[in-house]
Formats: sequence, structure tokens, C-alpha cells
Amino acid sequence: MTISDLFENDQDRMSRCVEQYDGLSWDFSKHRANDHTFSLLCDLAVERGVPAGVEAMFRGDRINQTENRSVLHTALRLPRTASLVVEGTNIVPLVHETLDRMYAFAEGIRNRSTLGSTGKPITNIINIGIGGSDLGPVMAYEALKAYTDRELSFHFVSNVDSSDIHEALLASDPETTLCIIASKTFTTAETMTNAQTARAWFETRLGVSFDVSKHFVALSTNQKLVSEFGITQANTFGFWEWVGGRFSMESAIGLSTVIAVGRSRYEELLAGFRSIDTYVKDADVRTNAVYRMALLGVWYRNFWNMQTYAILPYENYLKRFPAYLQQLLMESNGKSVTLQGEDVEHDTSPVYWGEPGTNGQHSFHQMLHQGTSPMPVDFLLGRRPVHELGSHHTLLQAHCLAQASVLAFGKSAEVLRAEGVSENLIPHKVMPGNRPSTLILFDSMSPYVLGQLVSMYEHVTLIQGLIWGVGSFDQWGVELGKVVAGSIVQALAGEEVELDSSTAWAVAHLKNDD
Ligand code: F6P
Repeated sequence: MTISDLFENDQDRMSRCVEQYDGLSWDFSKHRANDHTFSLLCDLAVERGVPAGVEAMFRGDRINQTENRSVLHTALRLPRTASLVVEGTNIVPLVHETLDRMYAFAEGIRNRSTLGSTGKPITNIINIGIGGSDLGPVMAYEALKAYTDRELSFHFVSNVDSSDIHEALLASDPETTLCIIASKTFTTAETMTNAQTARAWFETRLGVSFDVSKHFVALSTNQKLVSEFGITQANTFGFWEWVGGRFSMESAIGLSTVIAVGRSRYEELLAGFRSIDTYVKDADVRTNAVYRMALLGVWYRNFWNMQTYAILPYENYLKRFPAYLQQLLMESNGKSVTLQGEDVEHDTSPVYWGEPGTNGQHSFHQMLHQGTSPMPVDFLLGRRPVHELGSHHTLLQAHCLAQASVLAFGKSAEVLRAEGVSENLIPHKVMPGNRPSTLILFDSMSPYVLGQLVSMYEHVTLIQGLIWGVGSFDQWGVELGKVVAGSIVQALAGEEVELDSSTAWAVAHLKNDD
């Protein structure tokens, strides 16, 4: 049965396909699924022990088995009055102690009382980090730009490519610049290289007046390496091994966000996270929208063999949201062995990708509508714009709804013929339809909504990982490349290193010795 058939055979479909919770609405009607499908998918979740797995995460069990760690990003947004005792320690006061330090530090910059080495107020922030230590901060900065202090400048440097830091430094005055070195481990080569380059830039530009404590802070779990870099404990905002990199945007890693939007907006962000945590924690699997999103992802990946998944925010401020979700979902669930170390017998994460609407309509939507590989789409749309401006938002909304409708219902040859379209053009103009999407509506982009959206996809990640039986919280697949890069650095420096012949050729070519 196609999506059109499902609508035709069930006049009441909408009443059972819409879920609403705390300002969010989900329309699940445009899916290749009827009540029976949803019911079977819920059975699958229960059979795979998902509710118990979710509970274990919230409780602080060491569900990151290969690293023997708890997974407690949800504790980062617990209110001050809450208590979560994990292995004998109530971790909520630790979280709030760090938050209070972050708020105080951010306030000093926001009220211009934090001064650089030469006595000028700090007004320019460079966040240096990569992966979870970059994608969350930059995504949140862009998403909440309307709420930021526009007199402060922010740069986010992640790539080891010198062009990245070059551009940030070019746009910066060392006297008014603060570098935030964001790295959970403080060992990541890209981040450490950029941090050293930034430090050398300050030394050259400020000479003897340069005081590292006035221009560098660290966000890290590794105080020892932070101290070796020359950053004191007072300038370090710590977090804990139970916060995974891609789940860390509201840990100390959120310092740039607090500086940008201030304490009360940041507290709204945390409240948004908490809203969806509560929704998932107390979930009725059969009616919970976050479960349904996760289960539909599994449905298309494993039962329809769809290999990619598009995230299309019709909200320009969410322009970095697809990139953020790529790390969250693919670094978590792009695995081919189970937690027990056996080969999985099913596909796991699809490829996530996306761009803000309406831009994508003039680029890749052609393929979404008529390509040979249909894929699910999440449309994210605000009921109200952040900035009321003429008819912009009405047009944006109309385009979003039009895309979802055309994807689902298409246009047949018969209709085209009845419209008088010439026979030779009909095959080209047929819109096959039956292409699934979820419409997710929120009120208007705000810190609270952003917290809800991020938390929603975090829980989708967990639920899908539990169904697929993979370890969603480690990332062993990224380690070997780091080690091999170390050998290639030696080879490029002229040392004798054993390399495969293709890599050896490239090294020789780059060194101009071939
Ligand atoms: O290379 C992958 C990764 O470990 C990510 O999981 C992490 O977010 C990123 O590197 C950065 O790590 P760190 O914060 O330790 O520098």
C-alpha cells in the first residue's frame, strides 16, 4: 500500500498520526506505515529491551561497555534540586558547581569586566575544538544567533588546515581575544595544533605583556594536560568521562554558548533538554513521538533498505543542525559489530545529511522527488518566525508543506494527461510520490526549542542503538586513522616508515621525490 492508499483507506488517519508534547507537534501520517506497522515496531522495541536500556542510561549504569563508562549527558540538565547518586556520589552538585563557574565567567565577558593582558575588555571569542567540541558549540551559536550579544564576535576553529585558524586570527585583535580550548581528552591532534598556533600568535603580537591566563581557558576532563599547556585550574572548566564528546554541548563545552546568550537563555536551553528527557523517561512506547521517530528510522533502514536520511530544517538558524546530527547519529550508530563483539546481522545507521529549506529545493530536492533511491525526511518548521518580516514566513511554511505533500502524494501520468501535458513530457513530469517524511513543528527557534530538538535526536540515537544492539557511545572506528596519520607525519618529515605502496607514493609525490 502506498501512502496515498493509506490515506484513502483511512479517513481518520490524521487523528492517530499526530503527536503533541510541550509545544512540539509531530505529523507521522506521511509514512509507509499503518497502525499495525507501528504496533509491530513497538513490539520490536520492547523485545529488544529498549525501555530497560533507556532506564539504565538515565540511572547511570555503565552502558558504554567497551569504555566501561556511564552515559549521563541527561544529568547535565537536571535541576539544582535534583539528586542522582551514581556509584555512591550525587553528581548533580558537581554539574551545578561547574555551571555556576561558567555563568560567572561568562558574565565577566558580557559585562566587559574581563580584561586581556593590555587592559582592554575581551570581546572576541575563538572556540578551538573538533567533533563534539566544535559541532555543538558552533551549531548552538548559529541556532541562537538572534539571542546573542551582537557586540561580541565568535569564531569556531576545528580543522587542522591552517586556513581555518588563519582566517579566525586575521579577524581578531589579540588584545581583546579569548581562546577557548575545548577538548575532552586534550590530546586531539587538530585541536592541540590549533591551540599552539594561537598561543604563538599571542606571543608574537603581544610580546612581554602576554599573560596566558587572560587569553586562554580550557574545557576538558584532563587537568594534567591542560596544566602542561599552561592553563591553570582556575581557567579550566571540567566535565566527566560519563559525558561523551557528541553528547557534550551542554557540559563545560557549552561555555561559548553561555557567553553568547547569557545565563538565563542558557538555563532555558537546559530546560528544553529536560523537557524531552522527561518525555522519554516516562514514555509510553506506543504513543511517544521520540520512540516513533526512532522506530520509523529502523523501519526504513532495515525493512525498506533505505540508505540515507535527510534532515531539512525550514529554519535558517538551524543551518549547522544537519552537520551536528551527522556526528551524533553516525558516530554513535555507524557500527557493524554488536556490543558483544559479533557481526551485526542487519544494517545500522543510514547516512544523515541535509541543508536548510528552501535552499535545498533548488539543489538536491530533484533527487528527493524523482531519484531512484527514496529516503525518509524530517522537516523541521517553526509556527512563527524569529523575525516577522513581510510574507517571508508564510512563504517558507508553504514551501515546506508543499515539499512534504508532493513527496508523499506525487502526481500521476493520468492527472498530467488530463491537464493536457504532451505525451513525450509525461514520463519526465510524473512525480512518483510515496516518499516518506515526518513534519516536526515547533513554536519559534529559541533556546528552549533547541534544547528539545537536540535532546529528541539524542534519544533517537539511543533507542536505535539499542534496537541494533550496537555500542552507541564509543567510537573505536576513528582511532586507527589517528595512529596512521602519526606515522605519515613521520614519513612526510623524511623518516623511514613502513607504509602501503599507494600511501608511500602519495607521500613521495607530496615531498616531490617521485
Ligand atoms: O575523533 C572522534 C572524537 O573522539 C569525537 O568523538 C570527539 O567529539 C572528538 O574526537 C574530539 O575529541 P576531544 O574533545 O577529546 O578533543
